[in-house]
Amino acid sequence: MSRVYVFDHPLIQHKLTFIRDKNTGTKEFRELVDEVATLMAYEITRDLPLEDTVIETPVSTCRARVISGKKVGLIPILRAGLGMVDGILKLIPAAKVGHIGLYRDPETLQPVEYYVKLPTDIEERDLIVIDPMLATGGSASAALTALKQRGAKNLKLMCLIAAPEGIKVVQEDHPDVDIYVAAVDEKLNDHGYIVPGLGDAGDRLFGTK
Ligand code: PRP
Ligand code: URA
Repeated sequence: MSRVYVFDHPLIQHKLTFIRDKNTGTKEFRELVDEVATLMAYEITRDLPLEDTVIETPVSTCRARVISGKKVGLIPILRAGLGMVDGILKLIPAAKVGHIGLYRDPETLQPVEYYVKLPTDIEERDLIVIDPMLATGGSASAALTALKQRGAKNLKLMCLIAAPEGIKVVQEDHPDVDIYVAAVDEKLNDHGYIVPGLGDAGDRLFGTK
């Protein structure tokens, strides 16, 4: 069974409150999502392996540690996942970025795939699938399946807000994938929106409504 990690760091929780607020405009929403993505990347990279090296400080020789050549890939689910990419790249600048285009059919709530472009070596990379919202779980589960079909082996899922329904779907469909979130909300409403949530993440990021 995959594990769910809720990042309760005060800075993450504080910024998430303003992300949720309907009075937060597009510019500020985008900046806050970017900042929270950076903070979450700090937490999610805790298990990156280190290796020893030797350097010269101005004073003496020093045994020190650096991150050992781990290859990371970021996979935002279009559109809203794009809002978290730059924030993560600030901490992991060498990560490659693949894209999976999915939209949720408003009637059926089923994900529809329209674009996939991935690094050629995804089977060798630790992949972080990124989407602000885990609602029914259909989009995240479909993205994880699409990546596994193309050879991905090591996957994590990172979202801002998850509904219990979406967590259950991902855990059932992908028990090997741990889930990292800033909050687990109460439920979904009749339109498949997370309650209380933040509304439509893509529209709020890109100002399309
Ligand atoms: C949103 C969100 C997720 C999906 C979550 O995208 O960014 O991808 O819905 O819902 P689910 O868990 O029920 O699948 P949307 O389909 O609105 O597309 P967009 O990002 O292009 O606006
Ligand atoms: N997609 C969103 O953008 N928001 C939700 O609450 C659910 C799905």
